[in-house]
Amino acid sequence: MYLHGSSTINEQGHLQIGGCDTLELKEQYGTPLYIMDEQLIRQRCREYMDAFRATGMQFQVAYASKAFCTMAICRIVEEEGLSLDVVSEGELYTALEAGFPAARIHFHGNNKTPDELEMALDAQIGCFVVDNFIELQMLNAIAAEKGLKPAILLRVTPGVEAHTHEFISTGQEDSKFGFDIGNGSAEEAVKQAHQLPHVELLGLHSHIGSQIFEVDGFEVAAQRVADFARQLQQEAGVSFKVINLGGGFGIRYIEEDTPLAAHTYVEAIANAVKQQFAGLEGELPQIWIEPGRSIVGDAGTTLYTIGTSKDIPGVRKYVSVDGGMTDNPRPALYDAKYEALLANRVNDEPSELVSIAGKCCESGDMLIWDIELAEPVAGDLLAVPCTGAYNYSMASNYNRIRRPAVVLVNDGQSDLIVERESFEDITRKDVVPARLRASVTSRS
Ligand code: LLP
Repeated sequence: MYLHGSSTINEQGHLQIGGCDTLELKEQYGTPLYIMDEQLIRQRCREYMDAFRATGMQFQVAYASKAFCTMAICRIVEEEGLSLDVVSEGELYTALEAGFPAARIHFHGNNKTPDELEMALDAQIGCFVVDNFIELQMLNAIAAEKGLKPAILLRVTPGVEAHTHEFISTGQEDSKFGFDIGNGSAEEAVKQAHQLPHVELLGLHSHIGSQIFEVDGFEVAAQRVADFARQLQQEAGVSFKVINLGGGFGIRYIEEDTPLAAHTYVEAIANAVKQQFAGLEGELPQIWIEPGRSIVGDAGTTLYTIGTSKDIPGVRKYVSVDGGMTDNPRPALYDAKYEALLANRVNDEPSELVSIAGKCCESGDMLIWDIELAEPVAGDLLAVPCTGAYNYSMASNYNRIRRPAVVLVNDGQSDLIVERESFEDITRKDVVPARLRASVTSRS
């Protein structure tokens, strides 16, 4: 079993993360519990920042907050010098509440509402990643009313779609995001943006996919975007200060996963951009990237208590935990694979093949199919590593299950960063119309 970050096994054979015994964390905070390893998050941030510093290029590393958006994580990435990518007013609000410097916030999204644009303009965020013509005109108009001139990038689709191990060069126009380079709409967008008096065109943005283990897709995207930028620079005199290549850097969920080190991706991207702009007049553009998963993914572990099990002889044994698709919808949504260990007796030899089920009323609520564990029984603690990205942020209240707490651990200290939802939280937004109230009052 691969132990991530600061995870270790202590003398009692318990899983310890950030110097905190997971049994004690269960006592203090209950389960299910998301545990975030602060040291590993900081290390991941530094790996990107250091890799860019070594390239000698100007850069920004924006944490894609969609992966895990809370006020505490905003503070951590801010302290590490990263910028922040938000996709909605909710993420923007969280960042601003956390005191994240607005100038380092980038706003994404294919359907930003007028209210969202206003909110972001009022906050004077650093950059809008404009996705379509309607948004471009709307942003220009709202900025004009406010006497502002926000910086923008145009999101372009370079015709590269990357998956874990391969990338497909599609010339793919069929995406809800961005301006297509191949069909001319990106060029049209650049020309429009260049003319508009209330936006300042900084550069271009592209994002080719997620959980990518190879550099080729990034290299080709960087080449195509840079090539497109060169062409417009030569033909229309538009110069681009920024090339943003999005996120998508893969992480190790299971033993077989083979992600690359941050510096490998960064060097490949930097070299591709340098090559394309070599010989062109003016400064090299800055490179921006937007890692999400690879900042927080392997820093997160979900701790569950094992409850019931059902053994179907000759078929399989289901072992159920006190959470499931409500705290980790990724297996159900994407067929995502996870490993797990018994946190209260890590050293016991795995001896039984079981499948880990969640507690939701849905057959698809399975966390892990077929895993060898040391005969798990009710009361054992199951730790599922690598749940830091797109777990809490995609958690739901299906079956009115309360969302777990999130605790940040570091150097033997644990701090709650998100409280477990209460029963009151579950009904907080419910409204019972007057004509139905009798039955409510009769209960109390
Ligand atoms: N930038 C843009 C424009 C994106 O669309 C995304 C992810 C990122 C950056 C960050 O990508 P990352 O470094 O985290 O791979 N819910 C899915 C992942 C959806 C990713 C959406 N966009 C999952 O659980 O795998």
